[in-house]
Amino acid sequence: MESNSPTLLLCPSKGGDERDQNEGLVVFDSSLMQKQENLPTEFIWTNADLAPPHHDHQEELNEPLIDLEGFLKGDEHATLHAADLIRTACLNHGFFQVTNHGVDFELIRAAYEHFDTIFKLPTSKKLKARRAPGDVNGYSAAHADRYSSKLPWKETFSFGFHGNDEALVVEYFKSVLGEEFEQAGWVFQRYCEAMRRLTLEIMELLGISLGVDRLHYRKFFEDGSGIMRCNNYPPCKEAGLTFGTGPHCDPTSLTLLHQDQVGGLEVFADSKWQAVRPRPDAVVINLGDTFVALSNGKYKSCLHRAVVNKQRERRSLVFFVCPKADKAVRPPQDLICRSEGPRRYPDFTWSDLLEFTQKHYRSDVTTLQCFIQWLLSSKAD
Ligand code: OGA
Ligand code: NI
Repeated sequence: MESNSPTLLLCPSKGGDERDQNEGLVVFDSSLMQKQENLPTEFIWTNADLAPPHHDHQEELNEPLIDLEGFLKGDEHATLHAADLIRTACLNHGFFQVTNHGVDFELIRAAYEHFDTIFKLPTSKKLKARRAPGDVNGYSAAHADRYSSKLPWKETFSFGFHGNDEALVVEYFKSVLGEEFEQAGWVFQRYCEAMRRLTLEIMELLGISLGVDRLHYRKFFEDGSGIMRCNNYPPCKEAGLTFGTGPHCDPTSLTLLHQDQVGGLEVFADSKWQAVRPRPDAVVINLGDTFVALSNGKYKSCLHRAVVNKQRERRSLVFFVCPKADKAVRPPQDLICRSEGPRRYPDFTWSDLLEFTQKHYRSDVTTLQCFIQWLLSSKAD
């Protein structure tokens, strides 16, 4: 990709093979980018995306805040109440927050501490861990390997997690960042384990909320996996012209997000963008496209975005829940045979949807529909 902008650097070439690999790579060097007077055109989003102006004061979303304490202790009344709130939220916009979730606050704090160490590494070191095009794992600057315009103002570090592999995250950290990141790897290994436990609890509540066998989704996701993504959003002088993360629905099943206190996450609900007030004690949960298919279209995939801030850096820790790669994604029978209507989507696998979103399509509000069309036409070939 060509760029005239002085801060979109071509990666320093080291000669030989490395130079060939790095040729044309756009590097988002956040410390340099912040000094830039004008926002490079690659980061400027169109009016259609930006309208209404997102730097104006936003209304705050009044999403349910669900206290999980009673449910986790087996209190049936509290469980039904939590499931009820989840049902309303998922029918409306697919977004809620949970408190008393059982995730150790010290673990969350430690995750942010290692997060900072990673993003403060020199660009050259971060690039050694960069993700390959079409892959999900690794460091990515402005997702510049995937898009050439409307770049998100962020850098990310992502890695996979499997409940059945006790040290996958640790091994990944050591292999791409070096042996000295073993401890960071353990912190994120534990963080992902905590997210997986919380996922299975939420899956049970989702089952209750849909009136199907309460263990159905919990069991379905027991052999599933996760993608963990650390999002770092540097301050941006022209925050009103760009996004940290553009409007999209997550293609995954469920997203468990913890954000710092800066704020910037917004959800589209009641026909307008609304801000999510950060809560240090809460985990933000949003439904993704795969769960929409699992609910036979009953529940909504949450349309959301993240705006950036003129003064402050913002951080979020995101755990995306995925079913086992080759398992058929299909709603439980109870959701089809009752008065609920016929199947809305054909069977598909998470590995097909992941391939589609990584290689062919930028996630947005129509991802699931476009994916199904792509799937049906590629099967017909
Ligand atoms: C994402 C996302 C929002 C945020 O990573 O998919 O929507 O607040 N992030 O970081
Ligand atoms: Ni998202």
